[in-house]
This record gives sequence, structure tokens and C-alpha cells, in this order.
Amino acid sequence: MSATILDGKQLAADLRADIATHVATLKAETGITPGLGVLLIGMDPASTSYVTAKETACAEAGMYSQDVRVPAATTQEEALALVRRMNADPRIHGILVQLPLPKHIDESAVIDAIAPEKDVDGFTPVNVGRMMIGAPCYLPCTPHGIIQMLLRAGVQTSGSHAVVVGRSNIVGKPVAHLLMRKAEGGNATVTVCHTGTRDLARFTRQADILVVAAGRPNTVTGDMIKPGAVVIDVGVNRIADATRKSGFRLAGDVDFDSAKEVASLITPVPGGVGPMTITMLLYNTLEAARRAAGASGTASPSR
Ligand code: GUN
Repeated sequence: MSATILDGKQLAADLRADIATHVATLKAETGITPGLGVLLIGMDPASTSYVTAKETACAEAGMYSQDVRVPAATTQEEALALVRRMNADPRIHGILVQLPLPKHIDESAVIDAIAPEKDVDGFTPVNVGRMMIGAPCYLPCTPHGIIQMLLRAGVQTSGSHAVVVGRSNIVGKPVAHLLMRKAEGGNATVTVCHTGTRDLARFTRQADILVVAAGRPNTVTGDMIKPGAVVIDVGVNRIADATRKSGFRLAGDVDFDSAKEVASLITPVPGGVGPMTITMLLYNTLEAARRAAGASGTASPSR
């Protein structure tokens, strides 16, 4: 049996078209153009490519984006000042500080400095806390994108056993929370595995829904997957490949070739979760602009 591929690129394109319509309506009705402030510190190639993709997506949706790229030697005080400037800029409704930051900068201090109402990544303590208690908040983009993929593919999360591999603040912890919350796309029984887990396969083999965000290629292979499981691969690893012009190819955390023979549904890398992450960032930025405009209700992509 070969799994059905969950095409994140197509789903993201559909949702982005919908978001672009809402952006045009907001502009026509209020004169407000949703704006995203993007801060990139340093020149990490993967971060640079993510940030460029986010800005291109903003432009395609009719949004304004303010691109601030500064050298890796930027001091913490300078970084904080840049965030505060975006907090005060009325053209900017959402702020994205690309992570990771250079080692000499305290990541939590910079995240803390983002005004919670502009925290479209959902990373500030206020947003994380609100999410945990089920209060209105910006949902973090990758976890929200994953839930949207599951919902729109008709995957039954309620009553399922979801296993999450990875416990990062960006993906592992929040996706585990969204999968277990009492809401559409949630209500699963969730197990979280991490680098301290003994015998990872013992847990992954019990998963109806397996979300792998370990940051390491081949963390999960076909023999570690329950037949018929839904596999969501969050990994983006650059593997050296001299045959490519770029010198590398992208691979997920799951061994796709063996996994697709066992799973019922699987996300590819690239073209799976990645495009959905950017889409949910656009969605949150639109929401932030709507709130700034005093608009009520929720634009359609989320459920
Ligand atoms: N680095 C890796 N993923 C993300 C993300 O979703 N947002 C930000 N700001 N940085 C990241």
C-alpha cells in the first residue's frame, strides 16, 4: 500500500487565495492594509530563505511587509530597539522575529518585547498562556497549519492517539496542546516523545497520528509506523547534494520512502507543512489588522 500524499502546497494556495480576498475587502472597507514587520538578525541561509518566502507570500496576498535585515553582530539592545520600533509603527500589525537568534542575544528577552497584540507568531508568554487556558490568542503558525491540514483532509483527531516527537516551544509543545484541547481538530490522546525517550519506536508504533518535529533526518522510519497511520513530517533538513545547483536537497525527519508504504496519509518535504506555516502567518497578520480596524468576527481560513 502506498500512502496518499497530503499536498500542503495546494492547500496553502487555496487558503492564501481566500486570505487575499479578505485583505482586499479590509482595504476597501477600512483603508487598512495588513502589515507584517520582519526582523532577521544574521545571514543563516535557511532563515534567510524562510524570511524571503514569508515576504513574497505577504506581497502575493496584497499585504505590506517591512523587511529589516541586520548583521549577526547586532547587540541585544539594538534588537530590542528594532522590535519596539515595530511595536510603535501603525503600518505594522504583526511582528515576526526569525528564530534562532545569534547566541549572544537573549531570545526570550526579544520575544518578550513584542507587543502581544502584534505577536502573530504566537510566541510571547501572554499568547502561550492564553492558548493554554483556551482564551482568544494567535495560534503559533506551524502547529495551527498542522491542525488545519488534518481538519481539511478529514482526519479524525477526536479519540485518536496522537504521538508528537519533539518538545520545542515552536512546534512540539504547542502542537501537543492543540491536539489535546477540547476543540475541533483536537480531543486526541497525546503522547510527547523527546530525546530522553527510551525506545522511541515503542511509542511511534502506537500512533494513529504521528507528528515528527525532531530536527533530525530519519528519526522515524517505516518500521516505526503503525499501518494506516497519518504521518506529519515537520522536519526541514538540508542534506548535501552535489548533483543540485544549490548544493543541497531538503529532507524531513521521516524516511519518506519507507514511511509511505505503511502510512495512509503523509506530508512530503518540501511541499507539506512548510507552506501551511507561512499561510497561518498571513492569516494571523490579517486577523491582527482586522482587530486594529475594530472589525469583528474571524476571517474564514481557520475553523
Ligand atoms: N524559526 C523556525 N520556525 C519559525 C517560526 O515559525 N517563526 C519564527 N519567527 N522563527 C522560526
